[in-house]
Amino acid sequence: MDAANHPFRSVLYIPGSKERALDKARTLPTDAIIFDLEDAVAPDAKAEARQTLAKALGDGGYGNRIKIVRINALTTAWGLEDVRVLGTAGADVILLPKVNTRSDVDNLADLLPATMPIWTMMETPVSVFNARDIAAHGRVTGLVTGTNDLTKDLGCRSRADRLPLMSALQMIVMAARAARIIAIDGVYNQFRDEEGLRAECEQGRDLGFDGKTLIHPAQIEGANIAFAPTAGEIDLAQRQIAAFEASHASGQGVAVVDGAIVENLHVVAAQRVLAKARALAEMEAQ
Ligand code: COA
Ligand code: MG
Repeated sequence: MDAANHPFRSVLYIPGSKERALDKARTLPTDAIIFDLEDAVAPDAKAEARQTLAKALGDGGYGNRIKIVRINALTTAWGLEDVRVLGTAGADVILLPKVNTRSDVDNLADLLPATMPIWTMMETPVSVFNARDIAAHGRVTGLVTGTNDLTKDLGCRSRADRLPLMSALQMIVMAARAARIIAIDGVYNQFRDEEGLRAECEQGRDLGFDGKTLIHPAQIEGANIAFAPTAGEIDLAQRQIAAFEASHASGQGVAVVDGAIVENLHVVAAQRVLAKARALAEMEAQ
C-alpha cells in the first residue's frame, strides 16, 4: 500500500520494557505501534528496555503496522543513548516527547539519518503555541497529542467533554492540516470503559484527527471503527460524486443530494472518504 495512505486509526503504546506485550503486538489489529522508552518505562528500567526493544524490532514480525519509537527527551539522561541504540534499529518513525520549539526538532534531526521521519508529542502549552512552526518542520510528518501531560501543565480538570483541552486539540489539528501531516489524538485512560472510549474516539474523529493513541489492546477495535468511514458515509460519498458529475455534464456547477448542496469542495471531501475506505480494504486484504 502507498505509505501516504496508511491508516492511523489505532496507535497503540507499548512499554519498551514489556516483552510479553511487545510479542503480543505482532498479532494485534492496530494500525501503528508506539514503542515507548519514555514515561511508560521506569528510570531504573530504561537501559534494559532499550535493549529489549532493539531486539524486538530486530526480530521483526510487526507486518504492516507502522513502528514508532518514542525516545526520552534529549534533555534527559537517556535521550542520546536512546537515539544511538534505536535510531537505526528498524523503526519507521522516531517520536520526540516534551517538544516545545522547532529547534528541539532540529536537535534530534541532526542525530538521525536524513530519511528518518520525526513525530512530535504535543503535550506542553508552549508546544501548542508553536504547533504551526513545529508541524511545518521538514522532517516532521506527524503530531501526537499528549492529553495527560497537557492536563497536568494546564492545571485543568479532566472532563468527559474535554472542554478545557478543546483549543489545544483544535490548534494541533489545524497545525497538522496546514502542514499536511498526520494528527493523532491523546489516550483515554479508563481502558475498561468501552462506551467512554467510543465517545472520545468519535469526538476526536469529528475534530479531524486521523486516529487515537491507545494504551490497551481492548481499545483497538473501538478506534478502528470510529476512525473508519461508515457504510453510510461511503454510500453518500459515491452518490455525491455521481450527482455532481451528472449535473456537471448537463452544464450545472452544483448538485443536490439528500436535500443538501454538493459543490466542488464536497466532491473533494467525498473522494477523500472513498480513498480512505479503499486503503482500509486494501490493508485488510493483505
Ligand atoms: N500493548 C500490547 N499488549 C498489551 C498492552 C499494550 N499496551 N497492554 C496490555 N497488553 C497485554 C498484556 O500483556 C496481556 O497479555 P497476555 O494476555 O498475553 O498476558 C493482555 O494484554 C491483557 O492485559 P491486562 O492484564 O488487561 O492489562 P494489565 O493490567 O497487565 O496492564 C496497563 C494495564 C495499562 C498497565 C497496560 O495496558 C500498559 O502498560 N499500557 C501501556 C501504557 C503506556 O504505554 N503508557 C504510556 C503512554 S500513555
Ligand atoms: Mg507525555
